[in-house]
This record gives sequence, structure tokens and C-alpha cells, in this order.
Amino acid sequence: MDLSKSTKIAFIGCGAVGKTLAVALSRSGYSVIAASSRTYKSAEDLAVRIKNCTPYESIPKAADQADLIFITTFDNAIEHVVNSIEWTTGQAVVHCSGASSLDVLRAAEMKGAFTGSFHPLQAFAGVEDALESLPGSTFGIEGQGKLKEYLTQLALDIGGKPIFLESSDKPLYHASAVTLGGVLMGQIAVIAQIWEDRLGVEKNEALKTLIPMVRGVSDALEANGIPEGIAGPYVRGDVETVQKHLEAMKAVGIIEMQMYATTALAGIKFAAQRGVCKDADVKVMTKLLNTYISENPIEYN
Ligand SMILES: NC(=O)c1ccc[n+]([C@@H]2O[C@H](COP(=O)([O-])OP(=O)(O)OC[C@H]3O[C@@H](n4cnc5c(N)ncnc54)[C@H](OP(=O)(O)O)[C@@H]3O)[C@@H](O)[C@H]2O)c1
Repeated sequence: MDLSKSTKIAFIGCGAVGKTLAVALSRSGYSVIAASSRTYKSAEDLAVRIKNCTPYESIPKAADQADLIFITTFDNAIEHVVNSIEWTTGQAVVHCSGASSLDVLRAAEMKGAFTGSFHPLQAFAGVEDALESLPGSTFGIEGQGKLKEYLTQLALDIGGKPIFLESSDKPLYHASAVTLGGVLMGQIAVIAQIWEDRLGVEKNEALKTLIPMVRGVSDALEANGIPEGIAGPYVRGDVETVQKHLEAMKAVGIIEMQMYATTALAGIKFAAQRGVCKDADVKVMTKLLNTYISENPIEYN
């Protein structure tokens, strides 16, 4: 395996991540020469963005042109795609899934290919926005020997920060990323809906107020770390306020109240580390939150 900037790279699966990484690598001087996808149109849409990149109808044919193949399909298609390719010794194959282990690449490994994963810890939707968000993003990397070194360099060259993972860490790593991304997005959507339903502010208008708050929270944590960057009634030990919040959220709905209470309960120990709140108040707040959680189960029909 000879890995350098002139290593021929192919992308299989030409959606948000495939296109974004292919363009970012090409802009950084890497040789992205082939693309294929479930539909030819997606492969063309990737290839047209990159000089000297050819779209292929046939996935095996595109893979055959390259020394390093990125598989950027949906997670559940990776293994099927790997099985459809005739691998040769010395090729390398990498997927970008945060949740899948290297096991899904086993068929390639059996034929002598090197295997790795390269997971951008970032939410990708549109290609242009994603390209802007790449610098400073973390890349979770798995790989053997030279491939690991190469993927590390590749992450650095597109402005990313590499971190190294074992396959056994992937489910927790990905769960933490999704808690921060998808689950946080869900929480923001719930709050915006509450503003629309209860406070008379249309939800997308509400976002204009809520998003600067989210930025403020990240800025405070970035500047001051944990626990100094944490603020709110838990830090102050303001039991009365927490009780009012629980009642107000309960009046909206049990799920909303549970969302508030479980998140607060998970974070309370960090708020307590500030040392502002008395131990006795931490105990009272913990008990209060636990009581609301256990006495108000979410019921499904
Ligand atoms: N989106 C994110 O925020 C994000 C972040 C980090 C990592 N990832 C990972 O990156 C990978 C790609 O995700 P994505 O967000 O780019 O998904 P996406 O935008 O939905 O694109 C997936 C692409 O895979 C293609 N595809 C699906 N099944 C295929 C098959 N059997 N053979 C060939 N191509 C196939 C689709 O093809 P057609 O367009 O041709 O129909 C589509 O273009 C996943 O492993 C995901 O977990 C995603």
C-alpha cells in the first residue's frame, strides 16, 4: 500500500458526506478520480465538482480504478457494497460510519485490503455548509498501520482534528455524538414548539431567540470548561425555582417534564462541582427531580 497525495481515491455512495469529503480532499490536493453510487446521477453530481473525477455506473468498476475506496453509503448498505467489489491485495477501504465497526469491511480484509474508518463528528446536510464546518471538526479514526497514519494526515489536511478509536468504543462514541447532535436538536425543537403553543411565538421565530442561547452556552463551556462554565438554578441550589419549572413543564406534558427532569438530574453533579450550592440543597434537588421522574411515568397507548 503506497499512500500519498497521489494515491487514487474513489467514493462509493455520493450523498452529503461523500460529496463533502471528496471535494474537501480534492481541494487539499488529493486525487479523487472515481465516483459511483446507487444512482448514476448522484455519481455525476459528485464528479462534476472535481477535476479529473469520473462517474461510473458500476460500483466494482469505480473501485477497481482506485487504491483507496471510501464507502459513504447509508450504514446499512456498507457491507453489501463491500461484498460486491473484487478487492485486490494492497487496496484500502474506509467507511465513514460512527456506529459501525470494521467488521462490515471484513470481506475486503479477507482479500488482502487494509481497512479503516473515518468518521466526521459533524452534522452534514448541504455540501457547501458542510465544507465550511469541516475545519476544526473532529474525525474519529480507526485503521491499521500505515492506513491509520494516512487517515490522520488526511484529517489534518482538510483542517480536522483526528482522534483514535477502537471498534469496541464505537457504539458509545456514536451515542455521545448523537446525544449532542440529534438529541439536542430534538430538545431545541421541543422548546421551540412550547414557545409556539404556550408563549405565542411562532416556532421558527422562537429559534431566533433560542439559538443565540445555545451559542452562549457553548461559548461559556469553551471559555471556562466544566464545571466553571455551567450556570443555572442547579448551580445556585435554587430548589424553589426547580420545583416551579417541573410544574410548568408538567402542565405542558409528561414527556416535556421528563426531558427537563432527566437532563437536569444527569447534569446536577457537574453543577454541584462549582461548589456554590450547599450539599443539602443538591440532595433536595436530586430527590425532587427523582420524585417527579418516578411519579410521572410516560404512558404509551
Ligand atoms: N450526515 C451526517 O451528518 C453524517 C455525519 C458523519 C458520518 N456520517 C456517515 O456517512 C455515511 C453517509 O451518510 P450521508 O449522510 O452522506 O448519507 P446520504 O446523504 O443519505 O447519502 C448516502 C448515499 O449513499 C448512496 N447509497 C445508498 N445505498 C447505496 C448502495 N446500496 N450502493 C451505493 N450507494 C448507495 C445513496 O445513493 P443515491 O444518491 O445514488 O441514491 C446516497 O447518495 C454514513 O455511514 C453515515 O453514518 C453521516
